[in-house]
Amino acid sequence: MRNSGPHQFLFRIGRCPPLNWLLVCFIAVIALIAIISSPSPSTFNSVTSPLPDIYKKHRKLREQAANDLLEIQSLSLGPPLLRDLDPCGKERENYVPCYNLSANILAGLHDGEQYDRHCVSERNSPRCLVRPPKDYKIPLRWPAGRDIIWNGNIKITKDQFFSSGSMTKRLMLLEDNQIAFHSEDGANFDSVGDYSRQIAEMIGLGSDSEFPQAGVRTVLDIGCGFGSFGAHLLSVKLMAVCIASYETVGSQVQLALERGLPAIIGSFTSKQLPYPTLAFDMIHCAQCGINWDRKDGAFLIEADRVLKPGGYFVLTSPASKLQGVSTGTRNRIMFAAIEEFAQRICWSLLGQQDETFIWQKTTDVSCYSSLGHPAVPLCKDAYDEGSYYKPLLSCISGTTSYRWIPVQNITNRPLDFQMSPEELAVHGKFLSSGVPPNEFYEDSQYWGTAVRNYWTLLTPLIFSDHPKRPGDEDPLPPFNMVRNVMDMNARYAGFNAAILEERKSVWVMNVVPTLTDHTLPLILDRGFTGVFHNWCEPFPTYPRTYDLLHASGLLSLLTDSYRCDIADFFLEMDRILRPEGWVVLHDGAQSIERGRTLATQVRWEARVIELSSDNTQRLLVCQKPFLKK
Ligand SMILES: *[C@@H]1O[C@H](CO)[C@@H](O)[C@H](O)[C@H]1NC(C)=O
Ligand SMILES: *[C@@H]1O[C@H](CO)[C@@H](O)[C@H](O)[C@H]1NC(C)=O
Repeated sequence: MRNSGPHQFLFRIGRCPPLNWLLVCFIAVIALIAIISSPSPSTFNSVTSPLPDIYKKHRKLREQAANDLLEIQSLSLGPPLLRDLDPCGKERENYVPCYNLSANILAGLHDGEQYDRHCVSERNSPRCLVRPPKDYKIPLRWPAGRDIIWNGNIKITKDQFFSSGSMTKRLMLLEDNQIAFHSEDGANFDSVGDYSRQIAEMIGLGSDSEFPQAGVRTVLDIGCGFGSFGAHLLSVKLMAVCIASYETVGSQVQLALERGLPAIIGSFTSKQLPYPTLAFDMIHCAQCGINWDRKDGAFLIEADRVLKPGGYFVLTSPASKLQGVSTGTRNRIMFAAIEEFAQRICWSLLGQQDETFIWQKTTDVSCYSSLGHPAVPLCKDAYDEGSYYKPLLSCISGTTSYRWIPVQNITNRPLDFQMSPEELAVHGKFLSSGVPPNEFYEDSQYWGTAVRNYWTLLTPLIFSDHPKRPGDEDPLPPFNMVRNVMDMNARYAGFNAAILEERKSVWVMNVVPTLTDHTLPLILDRGFTGVFHNWCEPFPTYPRTYDLLHASGLLSLLTDSYRCDIADFFLEMDRILRPEGWVVLHDGAQSIERGRTLATQVRWEARVIELSSDNTQRLLVCQKPFLKK
């Protein structure tokens, strides 16, 4: 039986304690029998411990799927079978949908709006697979990949590189076909570490390792340059996410993601950032290109919106040193204007050193009413967590939120990102589904098991037709197998928490689909990062930026609630996935069956896995091949 047939693959969990081992072997034999009697060669049973399905939402979706059986069936028949998609041309190597400048200008957009995200013009775009540049190489694994990247992987010209100022050259070094980053250079007076310690000192701390004691755990780094400040903050255990506008060449977001650092395309030209109110402990802008004093303070009001009470706004403009007197004058005018406006929104200037200014947002709601200055008014519906494609505000929000808790009050929170039952209860009260602590802890346990199982699947072996023989070396993938991970339907970020618990060297972009419960505030308050997103639209990132895409229940959500084209969704996953990257989808059998067809069309390797615990659910595990042109 061991050498039976070409279609079997024996899947076992790594490192079983002896007692469980017997049990696993027993189940394995049963599974093997099931496989042999299974007619489908591409389906095999996993012998993982049962995956409990505890989501209420999930169950609802499943029941709905059963009611909509006819519809699902017609969907799974799909359009007349499409042939495999063709690769796009060279001009789409770095294609980011929704940022077509010429189309936007044609549509009459102006005033900066033409550079912003507009997805309407994408509808008739040709369907093709975005391919990597000719000299693309698989990025080095974390942490080596943080400091050395392949020149050919990002769109940056040599001219740009050498003309980008002395700050650039200090941080980067072009060697052959590699770019090296010297983020920790102790001998250098202006090293990123020194800069970070300077900020810590300015807010009254001994060193930057004490940031959490001041309540600073999450940082929004606007316009992150080469990402080195964020890389340093991650090394002192902060969650720093880079956000910057779309750039056709030399993109900061593309560079940061290539290095394995959290980043997303976004700007606040005219719309709010895709974050809830009171989201971050610190906002950092070093030469980030935003004219904070323009638009009647609307940008500062937006910064205030996403900043938690007691949070810090750090602004650095070393421009006067580098670019001469006129920029220095412009900076002084801007700082004066910001300081004047800061008083009207209850920010206090904590300090100024060299070219760095730090303001702190008030913790005291009564500050707004007691202002002598002409204060910016409070918003009428001052509590509003959603902020997807909403216009910029001209009033202060968040003051009546249940999440108006000064960052300083959540100090000494353990750094493993666990939430106290009290905090959870606060969140639970305000989610429409409610998050009773029990459900939350069950969710955590569920993901603990699921993530361990998923991890063992991340090996090309699972696509092999040859069974693994007992006694073979354990093929458990290394801890740094993947770095940039996206949970496309994150709920409470249980997947994120579990994968960190397993000590994998990853960060997770937790995406909360706009039609699900708004759990993003909870996710951010756990110290993770995430974003609102409508999956009928492309995700605001560059091609080849994620190593692993994961989602539970998203395919059925897309067909049942969003009712948009899943084929486009697969195309989009393919775009943002690195070559040799992975996709793990958990869903109802019909959705997964349809998903498998689409995975084949985008030319991924794909396996459907039945779950021993629930025969209505399936797992679809895919790997994107590295197709060279
Ligand atoms: C951008 O829009 C223009 C005008 O609608 C169109 O001709 C062009 O193909 C678009 N570019 C991309 C990359 O989609
Ligand atoms: C924050 O902590 C201070 C000092 O312990 C306390 O007086 C205040 O009530 C707390 N504020 C909130 C909103 O919990």
